Amino acid sequence: MGGTALVTGASAGIGAEFCRQLSRHCDRIIATGRRRSKLDALAAELGDRVDLHCIQADLLIAEDRDRLIATIKEESPLKYLVNNAGFGDMAAFADSSLKAQQHQVDLHITTTMALTHAALPAMIEAGAGNIINLSSVAAFFPYPTGMVYSGSKAFLNLFSEGLQAEVAGSGVKVQSLCPGYTYSEFHDRSGIADAGFTRDQVPSEMWMEASEVVAASLSALETDQVIVIPGEHNVALARNEINALLKRIG
Ligand SMILES: NC(=O)c1ccc[n+]([C@@H]2O[C@H](COP(=O)([O-])OP(=O)(O)OC[C@H]3O[C@@H](n4cnc5c(N)ncnc54)[C@H](OP(=O)(O)O)[C@@H]3O)[C@@H](O)[C@H]2O)c1
Repeated sequence: MGGTALVTGASAGIGAEFCRQLSRHCDRIIATGRRRSKLDALAAELGDRVDLHCIQADLLIAEDRDRLIATIKEESPLKYLVNNAGFGDMAAFADSSLKAQQHQVDLHITTTMALTHAALPAMIEAGAGNIINLSSVAAFFPYPTGMVYSGSKAFLNLFSEGLQAEVAGSGVKVQSLCPGYTYSEFHDRSGIADAGFTRDQVPSEMWMEASEVVAASLSALETDQVIVIPGEHNVALARNEINALLKRIG
């Protein structure tokens, strides 16, 4: 118990659930997102279980990102940094908005790198700390309409594994969490239905609750695993995709 967590994308889904479960491991949580009302509702829900400090920030805006970087430095060493904010823009690349495609790279890659770079030195100095990067099982396969999304998540797997190797022995843990279909607001956002990825279009046995995903992440921090894939069906999916890649490269 004790210590501070910072969670991006805390206003919904997996990020909000990280705040709920981390309230059992920390006494302070900095919860960020664009929607202030959702962050306030989470603060009300958690009540005096934890000191939840809300920061409204659009992490695609450089000034907001810089403000959060300053907060990380002030609050360091963090016990947990959860780089969770993300979205999928599913569209045929030629017809897509280049801006929306770029935003996935900016949010998943640039923001994760920037916040991690801000948090890491103090974690290393303290000899402790956990960095959880929200990747996806989609990181293991290219698919039409989603390759910028899956490519940005594949970056997070490589980044996390490389970083964990770099900080080995320092006491800092890095995790790349790769959920499959998870109930949240993710699949309500634009473009997802057209791509065939909504609750009605995907069989129910493929879905997990955010609470199961977050529990798997936090318990895997007790192990040496960097790439964490919650759910046996998702592990099987990733294995199939890796085997398919091996066949494609001969
Ligand atoms: N749900 C799934 O099936 C699934 C599967 C694999 C991976 N993931 C990954 O899990 C992470 C969380 O997704 P989720 O399922 O919980 O989706 P969600 O319910 O849509 O939540 C996404 C969160 O990201 C925040 N966000 C989006 N754009 C932002 C921006 N520009 N600046 C700051 N915050 C922003 C949203 O908050 P505001 O709108 O308030 O800003 C929200 O809190 C994402 O990285 C996603 O790629 C999800």
